[in-house]
Amino acid sequence: MSSLFLHRVSFASKEKTIDDLLENKKSNMVKLCCRKYSSNATISNELSSHLSELTVLPTMSKRIPLPALTSVGIKEVALNGKVKEEMKPKEMVFSDGIGIVRFLRGKVFLITGATGFLAKVLIEKILRTVPDVGKIYVLMKAKDKEVAMERLKKEIINTELFKRVHQSHGKSHQAFMLNKLVAVVGNVCESNLGMEVDLADSLVNEVDIVVNSAGNTTFDERFDVSLSTNTLGPCRVLSFAKKCKKLLVFVHVSTAYANGERQGVILEKPFSIGDSIAREKASLECPVRFIPPLDVDAELKRALDTMDDSQADIVSHKMKELGLERARNYGWQDTYVFSKAMAEMMIDSQREDIPVVIIRPSVIVGTYKEPIPGWIEGIRMMDPVILSYGKGELTGFPSDPKGVLDTVPADMVVNAILAATVKHASMRKPGLSIYQIASSVANPLVFEDLFSYLFQYFCSSPYMDLNRRPINVQRMKVFNSIDDFNTHIQTEAVQKSEDSKGRMSRRRIKDH
Ligand SMILES: NC(=O)c1ccc[n+]([C@@H]2O[C@H](COP(=O)([O-])OP(=O)(O)OC[C@H]3O[C@@H](n4cnc5c(N)ncnc54)[C@H](OP(=O)(O)O)[C@@H]3O)[C@@H](O)[C@H]2O)c1
Repeated sequence: MSSLFLHRVSFASKEKTIDDLLENKKSNMVKLCCRKYSSNATISNELSSHLSELTVLPTMSKRIPLPALTSVGIKEVALNGKVKEEMKPKEMVFSDGIGIVRFLRGKVFLITGATGFLAKVLIEKILRTVPDVGKIYVLMKAKDKEVAMERLKKEIINTELFKRVHQSHGKSHQAFMLNKLVAVVGNVCESNLGMEVDLADSLVNEVDIVVNSAGNTTFDERFDVSLSTNTLGPCRVLSFAKKCKKLLVFVHVSTAYANGERQGVILEKPFSIGDSIAREKASLECPVRFIPPLDVDAELKRALDTMDDSQADIVSHKMKELGLERARNYGWQDTYVFSKAMAEMMIDSQREDIPVVIIRPSVIVGTYKEPIPGWIEGIRMMDPVILSYGKGELTGFPSDPKGVLDTVPADMVVNAILAATVKHASMRKPGLSIYQIASSVANPLVFEDLFSYLFQYFCSSPYMDLNRRPINVQRMKVFNSIDDFNTHIQTEAVQKSEDSKGRMSRRRIKDH
């Protein structure tokens, strides 16, 4: 296992994303553009071999014929987290890019979780950049084919995210998309993925690449639900992938937080059956403390037994508690990451001789650039905090000002998925490769900087109150303990209530 953890692909003074590189592959020209902000593509070690074939020259908008020169900077990170060696930018020549688009032409995908945030961005990217992709089968929960087709149209095809695909195909966009996207009724919690037998048989003959993005992202979900979707679900998808006669690679989307609360530089190392964060920690203690190996089957049995023993009205609550208790028992912070880590163990033990890629993104946020800057679906992760701050409802936050919030834009995650997919699909070598897609080494987002950006943003673009007056925000107060934060919230609540009582009594006096 290499000690390379996260790399930055840098182009002289500017940095580029894989996205830029993909775009540059069209024809024998390199479109060069200078961007306002530097971006970071956090790319894992093995992807660098593909990237090393690249050539992009950072100059102002101008077209130059290939071959051209590039500089690719790679950081090697030592186990202590320090940058061991920064490879000097190299000049290289290339003629046909990294070949992602070329490779994906005619390929047939099966993608799960396609109605979700991440997989939608993935599908959009494939359709926009590889219009001659074979087909994309999108597995989704639905009562029947009609409902699946309705979901395909409403939640995917006719959404704003696909605007650029619409634009490039004009009036025929609907026909184009319906020709490429096939809605498949299915469920990762059911055997054979809940697909109709005939359809499943034809997929077995057609599918080249399987991407499992289905998941339940609720941190404190019922243990049984989390296990079924996040642990057994990927095993069922893997089992189907193994039946596919033309399979090139199975890609599973896990999470960087499967690493639990490990500290320092975390290697891209798979979990094996029996591993746990608690066991790992205990092995470093002196004297070594014994923690029994994590037995995934025993956890499944425990969930089933609890269900059988519980009355219907309390089963949900008990299952939630059980998930958190089992996660913490083995050193993970919540049921979600525990169930995702167990999926990695199961995948490793069941993969046999197919190429498997596990992608571990950190917190996925709105798109950086593609297809639309800032596209996001729903209110996720930090969004409630940001919105409440902008509306003047939240004036403080408990955090370490120097702490890092590890986030990655969805389009960068998708680019990394595609690069890893093509790398391993083209090698056709059995094995398991892990890619952590994160930003804290390459481009850390520190809380105090985030709060400063938010302050600047809401000062220049304030929310309006009900009377259309701008809401003024103050700099976010940072609390280093939850108790201090709670006291602050309570004091503010009391203050607000007194202010509103005062306003009401003034109004009453005025009315009289
Ligand atoms: N979002 C993040 O910050 C983040 C970070 C790291 C890793 N991840 C991982 O990335 C993957 C995608 O996340 P996301 O943000 O796109 O999640 P999401 O928006 O919640 O989407 C989840 C998708 O999974 C589908 N799904 C859930 N249960 C299913 C089942 N039993 N059978 C078939 N499909 C099912 C959902 O379908 P319905 O629409 O029918 O519910 C939905 O399409 C997940 O595996 C997640 O663990 C996410």
